[in-house]
Amino acid sequence: FRVRHYKFNVVTRNASRLCSSKPIVTVNGRSPGPTLYAREGDTVLVKVVNHVKYNVSIHWHGIRQLRTGWADGPAYITQCPIQPGQSYVYNFTITGQRGTLLWHAHILWLRATVHGALVVLPKRGVPYPFPKPHSEVVVILAEWWKSDTEAVINQALKSGLAPNVSDAHTINGHPGPVSNCPSQGAGFTLNVQNGKTYMLRIINAALNEELFFKIAGHKLTVVEVDATYVKPFKTDTIVIAPGQTTNVIVKADQNAGKYAFSASPFMDAPIAVDNNTATATLHYSGTLSSSPTTFTTAPPKNATPIANNFIDSLKSLNSKKYPAQVPTKVDHSLLFAVGLGVNPCPSCKAGNGSRVVASVNNVTFVMPTTALLQAHFFKIKGVFTTDFPGNPPIAFNYTGAPPANLQTQNGTKVYRLAYNSTVQVVLQDTGIIAPENHPVHLHGFNFFAVGKGLGNYNPKNDPKKFNLVDPVERNTIGVPAGGWVAIRFRADNPGVWFMHCHLEVHTTWGLKMAFLVDNGKGPNESVLPPPKDLPKC
Ligand code: C2O
Repeated sequence: FRVRHYKFNVVTRNASRLCSSKPIVTVNGRSPGPTLYAREGDTVLVKVVNHVKYNVSIHWHGIRQLRTGWADGPAYITQCPIQPGQSYVYNFTITGQRGTLLWHAHILWLRATVHGALVVLPKRGVPYPFPKPHSEVVVILAEWWKSDTEAVINQALKSGLAPNVSDAHTINGHPGPVSNCPSQGAGFTLNVQNGKTYMLRIINAALNEELFFKIAGHKLTVVEVDATYVKPFKTDTIVIAPGQTTNVIVKADQNAGKYAFSASPFMDAPIAVDNNTATATLHYSGTLSSSPTTFTTAPPKNATPIANNFIDSLKSLNSKKYPAQVPTKVDHSLLFAVGLGVNPCPSCKAGNGSRVVASVNNVTFVMPTTALLQAHFFKIKGVFTTDFPGNPPIAFNYTGAPPANLQTQNGTKVYRLAYNSTVQVVLQDTGIIAPENHPVHLHGFNFFAVGKGLGNYNPKNDPKKFNLVDPVERNTIGVPAGGWVAIRFRADNPGVWFMHCHLEVHTTWGLKMAFLVDNGKGPNESVLPPPKDLPKC
């Protein structure tokens, strides 16, 4: 195994898209930033130096961080942020996982431009469980705002209303050609040769949009999601939520020519409407530069059946080498109602005296001013409470008309899990404002998505239909609009682990909570002591 050293200089750069330019926060001057490569078993050291005016922290999304929560990255959860002029070395070992993940800023809305790919190759000499592609390419989907993104969210918080949607989607940093800005250029191009196969490592780094992704004239063979192998299947369209990753294999089996990729929004219950589609090009060698591009039709943004068809096709590979270790017994059985609501806000003029909030079991999470992991490790009192409710405080028809005056409670509450216990969480969407799809991300673990359904979860009948054999294993899962999803995991990682909606606007509004996994009894079952350079609050 190797030790890999990276240096991330967080710096401001001017960037221009859509014929307008603005300063953006970047890593090493680029957005998307550098791809971090490692192999399973390697130790990675990333020195992050903060040269910007904001506090910064970086999260290695999907890396389990076994016992090394100090390197996980969410600001005020596992570390205090890196202040301007300061640095911090993230030091972690990649144990038992390989595949495509992403890294991103985990503070404010800096993730908009501070993100990149994290590619974990299998151990040397270990093949993929599918034929080796001719070549591999990272495809990062994201969003672009003409305005400063911190200003966008600050304005929304002040008014109590939803923030503006982005002005464009991007593929590897580019929206592709747009009619009102000819100098924009053609965008990202993937050059291919007829007869060869290409593995695309697709990452959704967008702040607030789930996306459909297609390539004109080509089928996509899905082989991996969230760095776990799946039973391969062919599809025209994938759907990918912020924080999720999907590896697909594309065979260049069409006539020479140019074929467009498209990344377009999936919004099954839009509160804000976004119509932007990003494009990129698959370019066959031997194609004349004058030849026209074949475009694809993006699915309508409310094409829930297309999204469901894709999601329901995902199954763990569950081979002898990669067995699905689904917990069959459950120690902690939890029901979390997740959704948006409104609370009074006398100063919110635009919101008519109310503001949009979000919650889990009616708790709107309040960020502490000391990191929770530090408070836990050093037994600092008064930072959090351990009374996060395991069930909604009042049961109601979650997807029907909400009860009157359903205000949320502010709090920094965690839910305590015994080390190595097994956990089932049913994430139930609520329709308090409107039903909406929430991509929920759990730090520190992969989980199995054992069941999903529409309407209210029925604890008597629904578990009978759970898939405990080959459910997909992931770290970010869409809770369907007006429905629920059930996940299971083993709490084998001591520490404090954030769980939140990966639509950044919903995280900002409070759709977040944390699990505290107590130390085990053995010598290798407790959180390691913090590194010396851990930032101070
Ligand atoms: Cu990718 Cu807590 O986030």
